[in-house]
Amino acid sequence: MILIGAVMAVLIMLLRLLPLINWPATRKPGQMESKLADYVTSEWVRRHAAKQTNPINPTPENLKAGQGDFEEHCATCHGLDGSGENRFEADFYPPVAKLTDDDAQNWSDGELYFIISNGIPMTGMPGFSRNHDSKEIWGMILWVRHLAQLNPAEKAALESRAHMSVEQHQKMMEESHPGEVQPSSPKPGAESEHH
Ligand code: HEC
Repeated sequence: MILIGAVMAVLIMLLRLLPLINWPATRKPGQMESKLADYVTSEWVRRHAAKQTNPINPTPENLKAGQGDFEEHCATCHGLDGSGENRFEADFYPPVAKLTDDDAQNWSDGELYFIISNGIPMTGMPGFSRNHDSKEIWGMILWVRHLAQLNPAEKAALESRAHMSVEQHQKMMEESHPGEVQPSSPKPGAESEHH
């Protein structure tokens, strides 16, 4: 009984103390916090992800489909080139992952499939399984792998597109998905804010 009382007291104290800490999403997670979160995420993914390799091959058509889906569903957060630079000009907590570095590329195909399908709870990473079939998800995985091996010309082309203005981006989305994109009205002058 005394033990239960002590545990309850600690929990109540924690609940009252946590909101007193100032933790805006604009700061970077500390080293301890990142390590702990990485540990929990990777254990969760490794335990639950199926062991499978990408069933679709990196043919030009499959890569093109994967690129199209990636640019529609992922690039706003991860960047067209997977650099992790989001289009919102805002800070995520934890930050959006860079998809071209070892941390992301060392996941197996099955683990990437698990992450993209389920998302990563309590982060900005959403789960896609309810609205996207497996072929679409595997196609995006092909493209995520390809982003880590771009040749200099492909890289330059993606980088220049990544720096397009908001208005140009809107136009591109309307062209690639006619009728699906609502025209937005950017604030006057807002489109020239990119550096
Ligand atoms: C709303 C923003 C957002 C969108 C959209 C988004 N992601 Fe993420 N993603 C994140 C954030 C934030 C993280 C980092 C989570 C963390 O640190 O645990 C992340 C992490 C990941 C990771 C893990 C990387 C690593 O280093 O462990 C992969 C893989 C990934 N995203 C792929 C995708 C793909 C593919 C799509 C599109 C189908 C996508 N994401 C869409 C925000 C997003």
